Amino acid sequence: MNDVRPESATAKRPAEVMKKLVALCKSRGFVFQSSEIYGGLKSAYDYGPLGAELKRNLMGEWWRDMVTTRENVVGIDASIIMHPDVWRASGHAAGFSDPLVDCKISKERFRADKAPRPAVGSELPITCPDKGVAKDWADQIRKQFGVELERDGNVLRGLRAISATEFGFFARAANAPEKTWPWRGYVSPLFGSPFLSEERQFNLMFRTALGAVDPMQEVSTILSELTAQGDLNAAVRARFPGEAADAEHMISKALRDNDRGRLLRSVIETITLPTMAYLRPETAQAMFVQFKNVLDSQGLKPPFGIAQMGKSFRNEVTVEHFIFRSCEFEQMEMEFFCEPGTQREWMSYWKEQRMNWWQRYANYKEDFRFRQHGKDEMAFYADDCYDVEYKYPWGWGELEGIASRTDYDLSQHEKHSGVTLQYVDQEKAGPDGKKPWKYKPFVIEPAAGATRALLCFLIDAYHEEERRTASGEVEIRTVLKLHPRLAPIKCAVLPLVRKDGMPEKAREIIGQMLKAGINAKYDEKHAIGKRYARHDEIGTPWCVTIDGQTLLDGTVTLRDRDTTQQVRILIAEVVATIRARLDA
Ligand code: GAP
Repeated sequence: MNDVRPESATAKRPAEVMKKLVALCKSRGFVFQSSEIYGGLKSAYDYGPLGAELKRNLMGEWWRDMVTTRENVVGIDASIIMHPDVWRASGHAAGFSDPLVDCKISKERFRADKAPRPAVGSELPITCPDKGVAKDWADQIRKQFGVELERDGNVLRGLRAISATEFGFFARAANAPEKTWPWRGYVSPLFGSPFLSEERQFNLMFRTALGAVDPMQEVSTILSELTAQGDLNAAVRARFPGEAADAEHMISKALRDNDRGRLLRSVIETITLPTMAYLRPETAQAMFVQFKNVLDSQGLKPPFGIAQMGKSFRNEVTVEHFIFRSCEFEQMEMEFFCEPGTQREWMSYWKEQRMNWWQRYANYKEDFRFRQHGKDEMAFYADDCYDVEYKYPWGWGELEGIASRTDYDLSQHEKHSGVTLQYVDQEKAGPDGKKPWKYKPFVIEPAAGATRALLCFLIDAYHEEERRTASGEVEIRTVLKLHPRLAPIKCAVLPLVRKDGMPEKAREIIGQMLKAGINAKYDEKHAIGKRYARHDEIGTPWCVTIDGQTLLDGTVTLRDRDTTQQVRILIAEVVATIRARLDA
């Protein structure tokens, strides 16, 4: 039997393994495209019967490891909509945005910070989807930019990066540019075009409105009143005198610049601000906001952690690789509050804990690694940060961030809320030598993606094995080697035939397993080989088969998914055997 590793298979044909996984997820009910019958909603996914079980198991394992089994970590379950000031304090409302750019030719929209940056002096070829499009785009460029690019199949040539701030058009064999344009040093990712719009900031948080009155009604009433008057600026000044007088307010700035478009937008923002709320873009902030309540109600003492898992929402510009990056996803995060000065040792502790957790459930431990963030990559307040990365079929990428966040978050919420967020240690003297020591704890934050974890464990588990059938033909066995604790169904109970009391015996065994909290499924359709194959494909670690001998001596066969080996055990031993293997 030839065990083909998913990693080696993906190394040869990466797109295909993802394609197979995505197809399996749909056909066996792990993950569906959201609203598929209406044409689907890009970047949103629904977890089917098996996916829902797998996600619950995975998140349950995280909760067990991070909360239940630790004396100094507690869990919370906070609301998704929080006070809007939370996001102003955390910096998300102002800074949680990506610089967005549009290509003026292809209309491709992308993130400027992720765009390719060709070397100074290099050619800037625009690679069009095909020859026909190349002709259209060359025409557009001639009309918009006044240059005739050379067509070389589907590639448009003649552009070159002159410096970090300028690119130009060089006619064939010319040394000097015929025409130059300013640029920001990057091209569009898909086609390599340097003809780009200005960068725009785009807040990634989803907005909504709270309250009994629809803010759009108010917006339309006020806007129609304002625009009905001859002098819009004067009308706005009269309607919003405070905002117009405040030099820092967006209305006053728009009035100063005499920018009609920005003025109308500022008016809309001002009207909607009081009812504006956001869907949380991370689960983390609730742990800082509820720090005092948790501390006071639980009698905790640093070092201690507050954990939470659940949905987060980000209006991502680029959604990619199936559920890897989506707009609605789940996170598993913990804020670990420790004494200032001890953050380094806690960082190494949590790094080790988290890596152990990931590797515990994986077939290939070498597909996980740490990557330390460079100074230029870290938030200004962080004093260290690592990503746990996974070797996805398209390359190494982030699974979890572990950040040493100092006391930044508590300080920010203290400043914005006016509530003191500190720990008073009666037994210790502070840096001034006096007791008690009052301090804001420093924080280590392991922040993992749950839906991304689900994808990683599916990739790790996906195997195809070649084997010969009895008639000598080669067939492919697809097997999801999911860790038994993650597997949606732990055990399938299969009567060999639908008669002779076998179904009844099988149902008896199922009843015992369900009573013991083991998710077991009864399956009697199709030949036994087909049933094994079906359960291999969805990752069921064990199959119990009731056959003729069962009725004679009370034994069944227990088949292992990965080895396909079968052993005979007494019915009375089935539950204990499965339990012991799950707990191993
Ligand atoms: N509180 C810190 C925080 O949220 P992050 O690196 O932005 O940090 C943590 O997110 C983890 O959440 C990531 O490592 C990733 O696994 C997951 N994640 C972030 N954005 C995601 C998205 N759009 N889709 C799926 N998972 C995402």
